[in-house]
Formats: sequence, C-alpha cells, structure tokens
Amino acid sequence: ALPRDLFMPERVNSTGLDLNNDSQLLALSEALRASATATWTALPASGAETPPQRVRNPADRRDIVGHVVEATMSQVDVAFARAAAAAGPWAATAPGVRADCLMRAADLLEARAAALLGLIIREAGKSLPNAIAEVREAVDFLRYYAEQGRALDGPGYGPLGVVTCISPWNFPLAIFTGQVAAALAAGNCVLAKPAEETPLIAAQAVALLHEAGVPQDALQLLPGHGEVGAQLVADARTCGVVFTGSAAVAKQIQAVLAQRLNPDGRPVPLIAETGGQNALVVDSSALTEQVVADVLVSAFDSAGQRCSALRVLCLQADIGDRTLTMLRGALAELSIGNPDRLATDIGPVITDAARDDIADHIAEMRAAGCVIHQPPLPDGCAQGSFVAPTIIDIPNLAILKREVFGPVLHVLRYPRDGLDRLIADINATGFALTFGLHTRIDETVARVTALASAGNIYVNRNLIGAVVGVQPFGGHGLSGTGPKAGGPLYLRRLLAQRRDAAFV
Ligand code: NAD
Ligand code: ALA
Repeated sequence: ALPRDLFMPERVNSTGLDLNNDSQLLALSEALRASATATWTALPASGAETPPQRVRNPADRRDIVGHVVEATMSQVDVAFARAAAAAGPWAATAPGVRADCLMRAADLLEARAAALLGLIIREAGKSLPNAIAEVREAVDFLRYYAEQGRALDGPGYGPLGVVTCISPWNFPLAIFTGQVAAALAAGNCVLAKPAEETPLIAAQAVALLHEAGVPQDALQLLPGHGEVGAQLVADARTCGVVFTGSAAVAKQIQAVLAQRLNPDGRPVPLIAETGGQNALVVDSSALTEQVVADVLVSAFDSAGQRCSALRVLCLQADIGDRTLTMLRGALAELSIGNPDRLATDIGPVITDAARDDIADHIAEMRAAGCVIHQPPLPDGCAQGSFVAPTIIDIPNLAILKREVFGPVLHVLRYPRDGLDRLIADINATGFALTFGLHTRIDETVARVTALASAGNIYVNRNLIGAVVGVQPFGGHGLSGTGPKAGGPLYLRRLLAQRRDAAFV
C-alpha cells in the first residue's frame, strides 16, 4: 500500500492565465507582440564549440526563432565529469531544500509565462491554448515532483547518481521539465537532451531552474540530435534514463542499457514513455454530438501530435454514416494555419519530413483502396509544414502498421455483435496508451473497460490532456515501461535502494 501522503490530496494545480482578467490579457498581448520578433539561443552547458544552427518556425520557415549550438562528443564527456563531481553535494542536499528549488522554478515559470508562450508557439507550432497548457503542465510537474521528493525523505532511499533525460518535441517544455524535475527531486544530477527540433524552450527551462537554485553542474543541457542521446545512454556513468519518444528509439535504449549494470550491481533503470495506436469505441447508444466534439479534440488538437491522440475511431456500423457526416461537417469548420493567429485551431506539423511521412501514409492507404476525406489546405500554408486534417476509412486494424503522428484519423466500422472481437484486435496492436469509450449503457462500460488494455481509459470524454497528479499518464506494452508520469510511483524508479534498508 502506498502512503496516503503520496497522493497529496491538498495539492493544487496551476490555473494558468486568466484571459478574463484585463490586466493579464493586456500583458499577454504585449508579450506576444514582443516575442514575435525575439530570437533565442540554446547552448551546451560548457559553451559553444561548433557554429550555431538556425531554428525555424514550422508554421513559416522564413521566421528564424533562434539559434542552437549542438554538443560535441567531448562536451558530453566533460558534462559527465562535472555531473559526477556535483552528484555527491546534490545528493547530500536536504530533500526539502531541493524541493524548494523546484518550487521556486515553478513560481518563476508562472511569473514569466507570457514571455515564453510566444517562443513555444513559434518553435513548436503550438496554438496559444496549447502553449498555455504546456506552461501549466510544466509548473504542475515541478510542484508535484517537488512535493514527492519531500515526502520520500527518509531512510531506505538514495539517488541513482547521474540520470540522462531525453525528451520529444511535441511537449517541448512540459515533458522536458517533468523528466528533469523528477530526476532532480530524487536527488540525481541530470544531463538533459532536448529534441533537436525544440532546444530553445528547453534552454529557457534550464536557465529558470538554475536561477531557482539548482547548481549549474547538477543540471546540464546538451542540445543535439539522436547521436548525443545515444552517447549519453551508452556511457556507463549514466545510472538511469528517462526517455519520452518513439517506441523504436526506446527499444534501442533498452537494448543498450541491458548490456551493463550500475555500480551497485543492479540493472540501469529506464522510464520509457512512447507512442500509441489509440482507439475510441462508439456504440449506437452514444450521443453523436458529444462524440463528434470529443473526436475533433482527440484526433486533431495539436495537429494530432500527441502520443495520447486518437488514431482509430471505431463506430458501431449502424451509426457509421450518421456520425461521419456530422464529423466531416464539423471538420470543415476548423481553422488551419499559422498559430500566431488566435483563431487557429490546427497549426503545422513539426517538420517537412513529418509532413512527407504523413503524406506517404495517406498515399499508401489510398493505394490500398481506402476512402479518404481530406479537405484542401487553405491559403497561407505554403511557407510551413502543414497537413490538412484527414479522415481515412479502413477495413480492419491490421492495415495500420505503425503510429502515424499527425492529424490523421482512421475510421473503422464494427458489427453490433463484434465488440469483444474489436477490443481483442485493439489490444493485439501491442500498444496500450490511451483508449476511449462512448456509450450510455453501464454494462458496456464495465465490460469494455475490463477488457481494454491501455494505460489511460476515458469514458464519454476526449482522450487527451491528462492532468498531473489527477490522471497519472502512461502506457504499457509498446507504449512504455511505466511508472506513469504525474503519478505517485514515478519518482521511485529514479531512486536507488540503499543496501541497509528495505524498499517500502
Ligand atoms: P523520437 O524517438 O524520434 O525522439 C525522441 C528523442 O530521442 C529526441 O530527443 C531524439 O533526439 C532522441 N533520440 C533519437 N535517437 C536516439 C537514440 N538512438 N538514442 C537516444 N536518443 C535518441 O520521437 P519524437 O519524434 O521526438 O517524438 C514523437 C514520439 O514521442 C511519438 O512516438 C509519440 O507517441 C511519443 N511520445 C510519447 C509520450 C508519452 O508520454 N507516452 C509523450 C510524447 C510523445
Ligand atoms: N499527457 C499528454 C496528454 O494526455 C500527452 O495528452
């Protein structure tokens, strides 16, 4: 049983910006105007040794958001040496003092949110509501893990040492900050490699944490491509890895870590949070209007670039046509374009390569005979990496060979008596991240939620936006190792058991 205080019922999540508050709204619009032309930088912890590269806005490649200098192999080596030297003092710092640093960082982030929103919008192509949610989630992770670090104080636990954190571009602030905060709260030193697409906002998060009191060498930023991540993972000085990204890279990391043990003779802990083939099952008792609203958000918010996003809508056959007609009508109302406009619902995908990969998938589905609904892109999308939201009728789940990370919704119809078979097919994909059910029949809720294998199961609502400390998030199987992010067990994977005490 878990100690009750790990759930921290008195904890409060960030409320974000109040756009009904005139002074907050004015400050936000001024900050957004100023950030439209600002440029930012991201450097390795030990400075620039190679020429800077441009970071471009995915909504408009002419817009240079800033510059990144990637870490060299020798800089990674230096970072390990510095982190190893910092590990003892940081581990010896009282958990409450470490937690206070993270709490101060959360306060700083909240206070400076307006200035960072424009960066998130321009670097990651996020809409303003998504960018606001991103800051809120980062603040929540900082405070949640800080309190957990405080609560875990006591005999039996010790930090691992140096932990490598590797994050994706789709939550470039929230996931980056969450990984780092958890590892630091547990008393580890951190080498943090942000996604190559979004180093600038990560550099801002690191600067805030340093300003809040985290020692420079206890948290070091190492911008770079996958090679930098691979070097970090392969180095025996890495005593634990937190990775969020594709299942393919997670498997590579797991294989590398399996080759060695930590100095204490135990396996190197890995937290991997990966992708999904997330399904929403809708039976004929569901309320079509609610289904359509939840499908739009689940599949197309963030241009479908969420691991939690809906990939396969499974409609009971007798409501298929009616639901699809309404869905296509609602889709036509969405506004696609540069998220620097407040009216934009769907921004760009992250790169031209991502756009082309999604286009390849759509072409493959077309060649396989699937019916495809894809409205044309509106004017104004020529300078960025845009994909029009797309609906593809598929005959079965087996046709989907991989996670397609963009605004593409597959629709499958199942017979009235085929629900159990459908759930078995969904489970057989091997992914197990999010799953949704729309029904007004209580027995169906009980039966399907018992059969479905997924980390987060949602009933009669959308599939995205799990809230830190309220809906711990993460999957199993091909979707991840657990423990769930923003949940009471997360920090424990980042702690070593002391030989003289039992792990409660
Ligand atoms: P990715 O796997 O390509 O990259 C993720 C990170 O790993 C990047 O920082 C990248 O540079 C690094 N990397 C690449 N090769 C590496 C290697 N060999 N060794 C070490 N590091 C390496 O994923 P992505 O495209 O950035 O992100 C999208 C993926 O992330 C999707 O599959 C999505 O479902 C998943 N995701 C999962 C969650 C979750 O919580 N389960 C959350 C967000 C995103
Ligand atoms: N935690 C994110 C969500 O639930 C990935 O959408």
